[in-house]
Amino acid sequence: MLQDKIKELLTEQLNLEFSSANLYLQMSAWCCRQGFDGAASFLKAHFQEEIQHMQRLVDYLNDHDVSFTIKDITVAPVESKSLAEIFEQAYQHECCNTKKINELVWIAMDLKDASTFHFLQWYVAEQREEEKLFKSIRDKLKLIGESNLDLLQVDQNPKTYVKPS
Ligand code: FEO
Repeated sequence: MLQDKIKELLTEQLNLEFSSANLYLQMSAWCCRQGFDGAASFLKAHFQEEIQHMQRLVDYLNDHDVSFTIKDITVAPVESKSLAEIFEQAYQHECCNTKKINELVWIAMDLKDASTFHFLQWYVAEQREEEKLFKSIRDKLKLIGESNLDLLQVDQNPKTYVKPS
């Protein structure tokens, strides 16, 4: 049985993942409007990943017979000056997500909730990958600047610019 504090924090995280999903969908729409089709498709796929992150939390709460509230989440259209700014924003967003997950991990540990602590390890690893992914693309865009052919190449396949492990 989950403790009330853990239920509350996992529900909060579930809604945060939903909010992240919607943010990436709006970022994808911005890219689409600017003609960055590759980045639009990449960010749309990321929207789906965030929904899966949310789903994992839903499954975990269901496994523990916890009822939860999914909030109405409004995410306004994203406005940006550049593709680099979009990926900077995405990177900063992932850093915040990592902070939230880490806080959850430490609270699960403090409350001696081994099951939730173990469950959260998947998110710890996932956040490491996500930060790396967005940082690599952000760094590459910073390097090449705007308005040249390299920008189009990054757009075609943003994942190409992720540093190997
Ligand atoms: Fe679910 Fe991108 O963190």
